[in-house]
Amino acid sequence: MNLLLLGPPGAGKGTQAKRLQDNYGIVQLSTGDMLRAVVASGSDIGEMAKEVMEAGGLVSDDLIIAMISERIGEDDCRKGFILDGFPRTYTQAEALDAMLGEKGLKLDFVLEIKVDNEAMIKRIAGRFTCAKCGAGYHDEFQRPKVENVCDECGGGEFTRRADDNQETVRERLKAYHRQTAPITAYFAEKGLLKSVDGMASIDDVTKQFKDTIGAAESVLT
Ligand code: AP5
Repeated sequence: MNLLLLGPPGAGKGTQAKRLQDNYGIVQLSTGDMLRAVVASGSDIGEMAKEVMEAGGLVSDDLIIAMISERIGEDDCRKGFILDGFPRTYTQAEALDAMLGEKGLKLDFVLEIKVDNEAMIKRIAGRFTCAKCGAGYHDEFQRPKVENVCDECGGGEFTRRADDNQETVRERLKAYHRQTAPITAYFAEKGLLKSVDGMASIDDVTKQFKDTIGAAESVLT
């Protein structure tokens, strides 16, 4: 099963992708995580990407398309994947169609997480992750069970993203509404788009996803 998650920064794409990954045994493909790895490598491309990301803009379509095209051809994607953060422009959406066609693959669902813009600033400002295993948390909505200890791996160090400050988040939200939100129509026309209420609790959003996928299970078999 191949899924695509759509939604603005902070909507919960990463949080839900990890849960869907565990639930269905399909792999999360986050272009944001891939880019952060490129930035951490210190390469010239990484330096260019870093500048764009810290300004809240979108990295070039060519780089992103090449990255995803290579990644979905890898062995661990055979059982299925969850696209998180891609596509973000019409050019990327069309490139996705072309690369899936070439590989004889298709999307089963495009799941749009609908949220209030202003609430996303609070969500993002409170986000932190385990430095060891990458598990995601929130100061208010998803604290570790034991203070300063990761629920998943027991790690005690946490990090916050460089682009998670108010100013950059506002730019990221603008970029989303200008360049990414319009592509929901592209997937709606193909009959793939399903929406969930992303203002519900994290558990409830997961349930909405499972219900949506479960209700169409016959489509998948
Ligand atoms: P990326 O890493 O993809 O960031 P994003 O899309 O801005 O999304 P986020 O990771 O901020 O939010 P999320 O929806 O995953 O929310 P999360 O689950 O963490 O991209 C970063 C940058 O890379 C971009 O700005 C761009 O520059 C570049 N880039 C990436 N892909 C690109 C592409 N395809 N083309 C061009 N450039 C690209 O949740 C947020 C917080 O809220 C967490 O703390 C979580 O615990 C909490 N939370 C989640 N759900 C709920 C809920 N229901 N209730 C309460 N709290 C919740």
